[in-house]
Amino acid sequence: MDFPDPIAPLTAERGAIVYAVLMIIGLLGATGPAGTALAARLASVGHEVLLGSRSRYRSLEERDKIVERWPDHDLRIQATDNQEAAQAELVAITTPWDAAASTAYSVVEHLHGKVVICMSNALALVHGEFQPLVPPRGSVAASVQVEVPDAFVAATLQHVPATEIGNLAADLVSDVLICSDHERATEAVCQLLSKFPGVRPLDAGGLSNAMAIEAFTAVLLQLNTKYKTRVAVRFTGIGDQSDQK
Ligand SMILES: NC(=O)c1ccc[n+]([C@@H]2O[C@H](COP(=O)([O-])OP(=O)(O)OC[C@H]3O[C@@H](n4cnc5c(N)ncnc54)[C@H](OP(=O)(O)O)[C@@H]3O)[C@@H](O)[C@H]2O)c1
Repeated sequence: MDFPDPIAPLTAERGAIVYAVLMIIGLLGATGPAGTALAARLASVGHEVLLGSRSRYRSLEERDKIVERWPDHDLRIQATDNQEAAQAELVAITTPWDAAASTAYSVVEHLHGKVVICMSNALALVHGEFQPLVPPRGSVAASVQVEVPDAFVAATLQHVPATEIGNLAADLVSDVLICSDHERATEAVCQLLSKFPGVRPLDAGGLSNAMAIEAFTAVLLQLNTKYKTRVAVRFTGIGDQSDQK
């Protein structure tokens, strides 16, 4: 597969123009709830999605389910494996937390210079209660960054339920936090998420803050359980971002 130079679209001078262009986005381990939901949402706003998996057959099955669920949407989703998905312009990791760093490393040769989204949380369900775990380097995203040092890792979407991400019949009404040590990654992800109706992307600082967001997701899940709902994050005190420029 032939893809454009992954660095060129992310240079600061050209960013404003190129970010508006639709991209090829590869998802690694995308056959679970998070990956299939993100694939549907990204494809619904016009991106071409490579649905990665360790098994092409499983990817095909899940791709077909997404397309069948949303017959009125023209979703460009290709079933593929993780190796091919990693060759996309932008890559997201949607595996369980303890597989995220090793999955990134397994395709490290394809990730040089690319923005890599990590949406994993290290959580455990203990006696019916969600509890945060502390992965190496403090967060899943930081442990991924260590494995792919030439990539630009951004932690985001960890706190948004897959059910909401994948429900194309409704807007995804939420603030979505982004943490990265690379401005180009924060900008690229901000542009990407701002295309999702209802989403307000927010720059939440460097990758060291991903630890807090991953852990806080346990609190959100606990609130969902306790109050039999699906909570979303919405911060007060931040005006329309266009006013702040
Ligand atoms: N579910 C949600 O609502 C939600 C929301 C936000 C964030 N997240 C985060 O997103 C991540 C994925 O969530 P999920 O519920 O979709 O997880 P999942 O269903 O448990 O796993 C997703 C996919 O990861 C691949 N995978 C599983 N074990 C693996 C391993 N050892 N090595 C490599 N690949 C492996 C599998 O794909 P193949 O077998 O096809 O390779 C699997 O279908 C989690 O870290 C979670 O914290 C989830």
